[in-house]
Amino acid sequence: MNLSIFKTNFLNSIQTQVTWQAPSNIALIKYWGKHGEQLPKNPSLSFTLSNCISTTALDIIPISKGTDISFDFYFEGQSNPKFHSKIEVFFKRILPYCPWIANHHITINSQNSFPHSSGIASSASAMAALASCIVAAEELSDDYADQKASFLARLGSGSAARSINGPVTVWGATESVKESSDFFAVPLSESYYDPIFNTYCDTILLIDQGQKKISSTQGHQLMENHPFGVARFKQAFQNMEKLIKILEEGDLDAFISIIETEALTLHALMMTGSPNYILMHPNTMEVIQSVWNFRQETKLPVCFTLDAGANVHLLYPQKDAAQIEDWIDHKLKAFCQEGKIIKDKVGRGAKKV
Ligand code: PMV
Repeated sequence: MNLSIFKTNFLNSIQTQVTWQAPSNIALIKYWGKHGEQLPKNPSLSFTLSNCISTTALDIIPISKGTDISFDFYFEGQSNPKFHSKIEVFFKRILPYCPWIANHHITINSQNSFPHSSGIASSASAMAALASCIVAAEELSDDYADQKASFLARLGSGSAARSINGPVTVWGATESVKESSDFFAVPLSESYYDPIFNTYCDTILLIDQGQKKISSTQGHQLMENHPFGVARFKQAFQNMEKLIKILEEGDLDAFISIIETEALTLHALMMTGSPNYILMHPNTMEVIQSVWNFRQETKLPVCFTLDAGANVHLLYPQKDAAQIEDWIDHKLKAFCQEGKIIKDKVGRGAKKV
């Protein structure tokens, strides 16, 4: 792909104050393994969420051209060295596409709607909100702006590419989705999937709110020379093809089977990598077993997925929410740290505030 289309050369003006919100997303087909500059080894597909969001505001002032990127970053009012260095890497990567950054000082203020230490990955929403602000400052035309925002967000965190649009997005070139690309995520057209998926709820069970045991960077590295790497990437392409059909047909049994296989595969890859990681907590296993029992007893279409941690995402259509949420409250909260859960649902992506 000719990446120069993402370079903004001449700007008459820059918006000096912009504020955007972007949500987190939950991958159904997992991205795990990358190459080159933040390019995925396989395509991934996610539901964009609505309640787990980052809100980011930029103040941009012109300065005389320097060699360093000049910015201040405040997370929930405080400077944060760990986030600061991640954002520095992001700015260095996006500079070739947004050269104006070199002669501006940017003050960034960001906050999350969900607790930072909850074990919910915040990089997707944070990087998508920041990328949306940068693109908004450039005042690009709408369609192209989304594509560029996703392209830039990917350079901050791969999964962030999928948080610009919603409710269903695909990142990574696959024959199953026309227009799909390794460089940015695209929304899956609503005419390609059953409307039931627009009603999906995601209740996140906070099993372990500690810091992640393995960073995404380490996780992706684990896939280099992983004994099952080749087979995994092949499987992900096949699962994507299957899932696209399943979404179109609205086949909820097949949906459940593929979503849970993807979640368990992600953890199986971590367990069988070098070094080995077990990120599931005993309560993660208790919840998985409860989901299987409950589904067998009730025939309700609830399934689980997992991120690279112990927390469990429960996915189900709105029409069954009353019964499923009653079961969550009475049976599953006991497995959560301090009984904490986050109720979320699919949403439409980043927006201006
Ligand atoms: O975006 P990263 O580099 O933090 O990787 C995210 C990886 C998973 O969350 C485990 C899977 C995914 O596709 O979101």
